[in-house]
Amino acid sequence: MNIIIVKDYEEMSRKAAHLFVAQILNKPNSVLGLATGSTPMGLYKELIRFFNEGMISFQSATAFNLDEYVGLEKEHPQSYWRFMQENFFTKVDLPVERQFIPSGVAEDIAAESYNYDKNITSKGGIDLQVLGIGRNGHIGFNEPDLKFEARTHVVKLDEQTIEDNARFFDDISMVPTLAISMGVKTIMQSRSIILLASGKEKGEAIKKMLSGNITPELPASVLQLHPSVTAIIDLAAASML
Ligand code: GLP
Repeated sequence: MNIIIVKDYEEMSRKAAHLFVAQILNKPNSVLGLATGSTPMGLYKELIRFFNEGMISFQSATAFNLDEYVGLEKEHPQSYWRFMQENFFTKVDLPVERQFIPSGVAEDIAAESYNYDKNITSKGGIDLQVLGIGRNGHIGFNEPDLKFEARTHVVKLDEQTIEDNARFFDDISMVPTLAISMGVKTIMQSRSIILLASGKEKGEAIKKMLSGNITPELPASVLQLHPSVTAIIDLAAASML
């Protein structure tokens, strides 16, 4: 794993954006794996700036998001679909028919999961996947468990994840308890991965991710087995290393 320690959130976002720009310039029809949460927002801002300056175009790219809450309609203010519209998709030229996010309201969620992976494969697999990390070490919504879930699947969210994400909802009781998430194999099949972490509350998860133990109890630790991961970590998130 290539570990880059940077000063702060802004530098993390800029570095990540440069890797994305390089990917797009090198392969305009890249398949991008995208993430939600506070962490990648700065990356999206930088990419939008590069797009507005005419440096890059997403016209030929395809995007697959990691996850979605089960039970939230697309238009729900806290759905990840809505997050991506507001923070990225409506601000760049990535064609709407190539913006993929799993549906949290599909009637047959097992079929939705199966088809999501199939769709990723049919587009040639993910070239570059961006990941944040949960305080409990989750990636996407792969929560700590006794086993890794390989494929896109429905997951029961951890109490800690529900608490962490409650800040976006009016009340903690409004936070969905289930999500649909790419699995560990889906993520690990990406050709390259960028993991971003900022803030001291991520310190413990980063320390465990890099500790050497590869365990589903700290899902991000599996990234140690991937041949091309760049972890961009700010000083606060790296404070326990
Ligand atoms: C969320 C998402 C993850 C994200 C993580 C951290 O619940 N499912 O993809 O990486 O938790 O979020 P944040 O970046 O807001 O700290």
